[in-house]
Amino acid sequence: MVLITGIAGYIGSHTAYALSQAGFEFVGMDNFANSRKENIDTLRELTGKDFKFYEVDMLDDAGMEKIFAENQIDSVIHFAGLKAVGESVEKPVLYYHNNITGTLILLEKMKKYGCKKIVFSSSATVYGNPAVVPVNEDMPTSTTNPYGSTKLMIENILKDVCVADKDFCAVLLRYFNPIGAHKCKKIGENPNGIPNNLMPRLCQAALGITESLTVFGTDYPTHDGTGVRDYIHVCDLADGHTAALKKAMDSTGALTYNLGTGNGYSVFDLIHTFSRVNGVEIPYKICPRRPGDVPAVYACPDKAFNELGWKAQYDLEDMCRDSWEFIKEATKNN
Ligand code: NAD
Ligand code: UD1
Repeated sequence: MVLITGIAGYIGSHTAYALSQAGFEFVGMDNFANSRKENIDTLRELTGKDFKFYEVDMLDDAGMEKIFAENQIDSVIHFAGLKAVGESVEKPVLYYHNNITGTLILLEKMKKYGCKKIVFSSSATVYGNPAVVPVNEDMPTSTTNPYGSTKLMIENILKDVCVADKDFCAVLLRYFNPIGAHKCKKIGENPNGIPNNLMPRLCQAALGITESLTVFGTDYPTHDGTGVRDYIHVCDLADGHTAALKKAMDSTGALTYNLGTGNGYSVFDLIHTFSRVNGVEIPYKICPRRPGDVPAVYACPDKAFNELGWKAQYDLEDMCRDSWEFIKEATKNN
């Protein structure tokens, strides 16, 4: 039985669906700090499975104990965590406590119940401002904000656990920039409040919720001056977790993989592709660079292909189409 922490979130919900398609049995937990209760019903409907779900905060020791006591959990996919970079700068203690203490409590329960396999949601943010692109897993790591530091610290904690217990396996997945949504249009990214990331902001401009999209900088050393990132379809990312879980089942030690496409697209590439594919104009204005942003980051995805047999299938047009189809559906009654 797989435990999915943070199952109600954007990537957790897509991964739960992918796992269910691949025939895995799972239980889920979430405290809905950044997601909606309805997502669980939607997921039960989509998968056709009445899987067990626990509304528990991972900081709640007794709540976590109950999950492990009531289920034979042999592996964990660990999504639960707070992820807003800006908020992490304003509230570092909240971020360190939630993400780090929460993971430590989870690891204590895993130890107590003999569960030795974990797949962890890390981030390309651990590469900081890379000296060269594409980035591979052996490149130096550094962070620029508390959110990123929690990811790097958890990677290191999991590596130490693997040293202490030779049967333990931790697969550290460094996601690049997930966008898109499942074709059913029922699960996707619809953040509460003002989003930070490019695609949700672009969708808000397309819907007329905001007047225009702000392009942060056109003076980067990139092909058109705007920031370059490796956008990856969330369904590809979800499939990467199925492959990672299979790998964890018959491996030991800490294994690190980039989950990206290997393609770098600029902010203008995204705006133009979105407009063309969806037939909508994106009003935008050019502003100075956003502090902390780096010029270009994209993955070398070879290790994940060679060792997990996983490769992204969707292209930028698919991602733009699926993001738009989902957000139109999610906001149609507003
Ligand atoms: P999300 O916010 O949609 O999902 C995270 C889920 O964890 C939410 O449902 C939230 O309610 C839950 N959660 C948070 N703290 C919790 C706690 N103490 N107890 C129980 N549940 C808790 O985010 P996502 O985009 O699905 O990201 C999933 C994971 O991947 C996160 O750890 C995130 O840091 C990481 N990640 C995300 C991105 C991205 O761009 N989306 C990129 C790299 C890494
Ligand atoms: C950010 C986080 C990273 C996280 C990732 C995905 C930082 C330093 N990194 O990365 O930890 O894993 O999100 O959640 O914050 N842009 C605009 N206008 C906007 C928004 C963004 O031009 O309104 C540009 C940015 O300058 C950047 C690109 O779009 O070049 C992508 O930005 P974003 O979606 O926020 O992701 P990252 O900055 O890559």
